[in-house]
Order: sequence, then structure tokens, then C-alpha cells
Amino acid sequence: MSNVTVIDHPLVQHKLSLLRDKNTGTKAFRELVTELALLMGYEVTRNLELVETEIETPVCKTRVKTLANEKLAVIPILRAGLGMADGMMGLIPNARIGHIGLYRNPDTLKPTGYYCKLPPDVEERDVIIVDPMLATGNSAIEACRIVKEEGCKSIRLVCLIGAPEGVETMQQAHPDVDIYLANLDEKLNDHGYIVPGLGDAGDRLFGTK
Ligand code: URA
Repeated sequence: MSNVTVIDHPLVQHKLSLLRDKNTGTKAFRELVTELALLMGYEVTRNLELVETEIETPVCKTRVKTLANEKLAVIPILRAGLGMADGMMGLIPNARIGHIGLYRNPDTLKPTGYYCKLPPDVEERDVIIVDPMLATGNSAIEACRIVKEEGCKSIRLVCLIGAPEGVETMQQAHPDVDIYLANLDEKLNDHGYIVPGLGDAGDRLFGTK
């Protein structure tokens, strides 16, 4: 089964609490999501593999550690995932950015891709999929399926808040994907919103409600 890591760093928890508050406006919300993505990125990249190489400092030759695979890709799920892309890129600025757009097919109620642009060499990359809310898990499952179809070295899924339902379905569908959350909340309500959650992440990010 995939690993679920809840990042309980005090700064992450503090910023998440500010984010949840209904009185937090669009500008502050966007800034907080960026800051959270950056802070979480530090933990998400913690287990990237290192290799030893030899370099020469101005003083002498020495052996140092560098990333075994410098090819990373950050893939936001449109549209709310866009809010997390900048923060993650602040930490790994040489990563490429892919985009996956999904909508819910009204007939099948299944997430269906309407846009997908991935780096051409994605099969050589360690992929970090970002989406603030892991609710039913259906979008994350479909995004992982799409990325796996194109090929990649590994996938990490980073969400700010997860619902137990979404985590479970995600684990069943993609047990090889590590999941990172700032918090695992109580449940989903009848409208598919996470409780207590933070409301609609896309609308709060982009001020569309
Ligand atoms: N998407 C959101 O933006 N919020 C939720 O609570 C669930 C899904």
C-alpha cells in the first residue's frame, strides 16, 4: 500500500489553519497555498535518491552528493493544482511543468481528461502531482493513470487536505504512489466537500465565488 505522510511541521499546520478560515481572502489564500506547497515540497523531496560524484573545490578534490535523477516534473491538476505549482517550483526550479485538466463526465460521473500536456521526456522523470484537495480521489487516480500511461520513474501525490475516502480509493488504485498531506480530515459531506476542509479550493484561489 502507498505511504501516506502527514506533514506535521508547525509552520505547515499554522498556515493550513489560516487557509481554512472563511475570512481569509483570495490574495492571502493564494499566498498561503504557495507557501504551503514550498514547505511541503521540502518533505516530499526528502527521499530523492543521491549519488556520490567527485568535484574540485578551490581547495581540493572531494566527493559530494548530488541528485541521482535531476529530471523532475511538477504536474498540477487543473485548475486548483495551479495554485501549488509556483511554491513547488521555488524548491526545484529546474523541474518541468506538465498540466492535466479533468472534468466530471455528466453521464459516467467519472473524471475525463480535457487537456494534457506533459514534458516530452516524462518517462525519465520523477513526477510530483499537485492538487490541494484529495476528496473522492477520482481526479488523482485518473491523473496518475494518465501519467503512468506516458511512463515516468515515480509518482508522488501532494495535496493540502485529504479525506479518508479519497486516500483509501487512491491507495487501492495506485498503491505505488506516495501521498503527502498537510492534514487528513474527518470525512466527505453529501456534496463531495471535505469536512472541515476549506471550501472550494479553486474558487478561493481564483476568486470565482
Ligand atoms: N474540492 C474542493 O475544492 N474542496 C473540497 O472540499 C472537495 C473538493
